[in-house]
Amino acid sequence: MAQFSSTFLDEVLSRTDLAEIIARHVELKPSGANLTGLCPFHHEKTPSFSVSVDKQMYYCFGCGKGGNAYRFLMEHDGYPFPEAVEFLAQKAGMPIPDSKPVNPKEAARKKYGLELLDKVAGIFSRTLNSDEGNHARDYFAKRKLSPELIQKYQLGYAPAGYGFMKRCFGDDAKTLKSLEAIGVLIQNERGFADRFRERVMFPIRDKQGRVVGFGGRILGDGEPKYLNSPETEFYHKSHLLYGYSEHRESVRKHQMLVVVEGYMDVLAMASYNLDYAVAPLGTAITESQLRIILRLYENPVFCFDGDRAGRGAAWRSIERMLPILKAEHSPKFLYLPDGEDPDTLLQKEGKEAFEHRLNNDARPMLETWIKGLKNIAGDGAEGRARMAKKADVMLSTMEDDYLRQAWQSEVEKETGVALSMQKRPQFSPSPRQSFTPKRQTSLSVTPMKDDGFMAGLLQKPKRFHDLPEDAFHFFVDTHPIHPIYTRAFSLVGDNENTELDIAAQLMREFPDNQNIARWVNLPTVGDDEFQLLLIDMHMAYLNNLLGHSDGLAVKMRINGELKALKNQQKQLLK
Ligand code: UTP
Ligand code: MN
Repeated sequence: MAQFSSTFLDEVLSRTDLAEIIARHVELKPSGANLTGLCPFHHEKTPSFSVSVDKQMYYCFGCGKGGNAYRFLMEHDGYPFPEAVEFLAQKAGMPIPDSKPVNPKEAARKKYGLELLDKVAGIFSRTLNSDEGNHARDYFAKRKLSPELIQKYQLGYAPAGYGFMKRCFGDDAKTLKSLEAIGVLIQNERGFADRFRERVMFPIRDKQGRVVGFGGRILGDGEPKYLNSPETEFYHKSHLLYGYSEHRESVRKHQMLVVVEGYMDVLAMASYNLDYAVAPLGTAITESQLRIILRLYENPVFCFDGDRAGRGAAWRSIERMLPILKAEHSPKFLYLPDGEDPDTLLQKEGKEAFEHRLNNDARPMLETWIKGLKNIAGDGAEGRARMAKKADVMLSTMEDDYLRQAWQSEVEKETGVALSMQKRPQFSPSPRQSFTPKRQTSLSVTPMKDDGFMAGLLQKPKRFHDLPEDAFHFFVDTHPIHPIYTRAFSLVGDNENTELDIAAQLMREFPDNQNIARWVNLPTVGDDEFQLLLIDMHMAYLNNLLGHSDGLAVKMRINGELKALKNQQKQLLK
């Protein structure tokens, strides 16, 4: 299959008129900066489908489908990706490049990066088995991981000190740069330093089994307990799963897949020959990871701690899974006793008791969902009404019509309330807006603070340059926007002076994330509005910081900053 370079793909897009592609199926009318029409992906009577002429992306505020011209051809017209590219290239009068890698230099650089990652994994592994690794081997022994298992998963050890990588690779500047690019060196004022120090190391592999990053656990107590590779061109934490490549075959063989929370859970299970677990990499599970999981096996068991945090995590997984769930899937949810994880339980109860839980205590997703709804909604007739409302909104995100109807009838039985059949009701225009004569479509959704902020940034990437320093931390690590946001930052950072279209680049790197298309299609965020959103975000961040910090001086400083922001806000509102 042809490998297209990103330059070629961009060039094709830049010569493509998305509106023209879409207009073959949809009647589009101008509305503000964008074009709108009836969505071709779902049935609707008022238009919620928007095409941004400026950013060349479409988004439906009704069903959430969005993307660029390639995606439209793939999702709407059923083209496989290479054919979508060929179709558009031909239309644009561009010859299709030969099927050999288009940019050999790029390919060579990438290959070199992967080789380095593999070498580093080998070095960590050898260090674990050397004298230097004595106490790390003791640590693994204490955690009941056998030498065979350590070998199989290529666990390793990164020794103390900042110069281990230099000791191994020498200090040629180009090599050090490459080691930084793969995430094992960091650069500070004093030069290059090891990112992973005095930690046991878990190599993380991609689908093809290539090492793309690492997790490192501190021996004993300390912060952070686990340190992971930063986002690199090889390591995208929200698209990878620990254990996937190691366990893919065995999942198929055993017809069993368990999703757990941590590296050690995956390994503890494997050491009891339960070699069919995978784990996300320190973040709440993402839609992309859920897709990978469901594609590998239709009936996975999701394991959670039975405490409040665990129930919250289960709920978030359910919310994220609904849009991609099909009638063919039967995920189950298993709550473990409070404060336990598969690792601790296996050590305590042994293999049989744990397997018994997996086979007998895991509950179907529908049951878990209904239970969760009941918990949120509360008792009595009002409770049932609230439950029906919440269920309606959640059901509206489901793509599979049959499954949605089946689940809907369960909720109706449970609540005695007839749910509206309307798909995705949460985006219907608010009554207030229908009084505004100027608005002609249902697109004027008032975005949430996060949304408006992101929309403002992506619509006008220049705004990145004027953000306050704190802005980098506006989204915590676990926030779904975090990976995109930090990536946008580094893209901007790399391209100070160019007019790089951040949104288009992000779309390429996060093809499954429909938010990007949505943000650029939201009503234009004006400068004043953006300033207000920025202040809101900043204040939310500072308030959160305030809640987590002690020390009077720090608190006073934060309060001072908050006060200044409040004043700015007042001024602007005037
Ligand atoms: P847990 O804190 O539940 O740890 O983190 P654990 O898996 O039980 O680890 P042990 O048994 O104490 O060694 C679960 C997962 O969250 C991520 C890691 O992926 C970890 O496996 N995590 C946790 C981090 O990324 N950073 C941290 O500081 C802590
Ligand atoms: Mn644990």
